[in-house]
Amino acid sequence: MQEPLFQINPDRNKPWNDLPDLPIHPELYRTVDIMEQLANAKSALGRLHGRSVAIPNQGVLINTISLQEAKASSEIENIFTTDDELYQAYSEEGEEAGIKGAPKEVLHYREALWTGHEHLMQHESFDLNYFIEIYRMVKQTNDGIRPPSAHIYIKQGGTGPNAGTAIYTPPRGKDILEQKLQNLLDFVNDDEKYSIDPLIKMAIAHYQFEVIHPFRDGNGRAGRIFNINILTQKGLLDLPILFLSRYIIDNKNDYYSLLAGVTQRALWERWILFMLKAVEVTANLTFDKINDILAAREGIMQSIEEDTKIRKPEQLVQMIFTQPLTKVSHLTDAKIYAENTARNYLNELVDLGILEKRTISGHHYYLNMELYRILSE
Ligand SMILES: Nc1ncnc2c1ncn2[C@@H]1O[C@H](COP(=O)(O)OP(=O)(O)OP(=O)(O)O)[C@@H](O)[C@H]1O
Ligand SMILES: [Mg+2]
Repeated sequence: MQEPLFQINPDRNKPWNDLPDLPIHPELYRTVDIMEQLANAKSALGRLHGRSVAIPNQGVLINTISLQEAKASSEIENIFTTDDELYQAYSEEGEEAGIKGAPKEVLHYREALWTGHEHLMQHESFDLNYFIEIYRMVKQTNDGIRPPSAHIYIKQGGTGPNAGTAIYTPPRGKDILEQKLQNLLDFVNDDEKYSIDPLIKMAIAHYQFEVIHPFRDGNGRAGRIFNINILTQKGLLDLPILFLSRYIIDNKNDYYSLLAGVTQRALWERWILFMLKAVEVTANLTFDKINDILAAREGIMQSIEEDTKIRKPEQLVQMIFTQPLTKVSHLTDAKIYAENTARNYLNELVDLGILEKRTISGHHYYLNMELYRILSE
């Protein structure tokens, strides 16, 4: 009998120490459906890339888009936060003490996304410290790779008859985790030896990271950050702005069952198609969001110039588009206006119907309604 193309995991309860090294056999992904879906994903991502480099002050957009990514990815772990809580927490960043619970976790995810991005700007390729740094930021811990004594397995969720039983048990043992991670790092870094389209590489690498499951917790979030960092490291995007976790959370059951499908039944094609579809859908979604934000910004800029005598409107508009909730102190801290002027101007924008005053736990904010609507739809 012919050797199978992929050696599956026969026992869900036993650590999968025979997890095959990368790469996988090309026949597993060289299919017509994958080539077709790959073309769609690439063209959507290319359009987003082209649009994003043409944006003045990219930083502004990136703040808001990466906040959305952080929120969606954290929801997969059942860390729910309302938009209001999140934006308030975000407006208070730097005043950490007051921020607790879910919004804090989301902000840590966002910070981890940037930590990863900056690590790659400095080191150019992925390494073990890259994984450890994002994990530590996501989980706010000083831990590293899980020790052999940690009995980690992935449980069936929900309340059905199989709830709590193992779907999958990752490899166990310090050396084996490090060896598997090193193999994964070689696979993503070495584009000559492993010359596969970067989007397919990302899909394979995400699976591999999740089955290695190197940490006690936070592997899902770290793995989704890894995805986005791969896109920028391969030059498919300049900045980590793809809102990829939106699709994953919207299709969470498929996400879980397709990962298991590879392990238990070697169903690589379905998994790769899922990830390519996720890239296509979210690239288009992010593209639309960026355009909506830019159009809103232009409209607001225009009405300020026509209907008010506000000075330095560019900087004011930039500030109210940096986050949905602006405070007087944001403008004074950035040395754009003195306190009274800042307050008067923000109130003028309230009169124009652009901002709305909000008081949340004793703090006064100005909500950019249009930005809020775009981000939450
Ligand atoms: N059958 C499976 N095989 C491998 N990995 C899986 C499987 N099912 C789910 N996963 C991955 O494991 C993650 C959950 O692991 P963990 O709790 O360590 O991560 P997390 O970031 O805390 O959780 P979440 O992904 O829910 O936010 C899932 O998000 C998914 O990426
Ligand atoms: Mg978890």
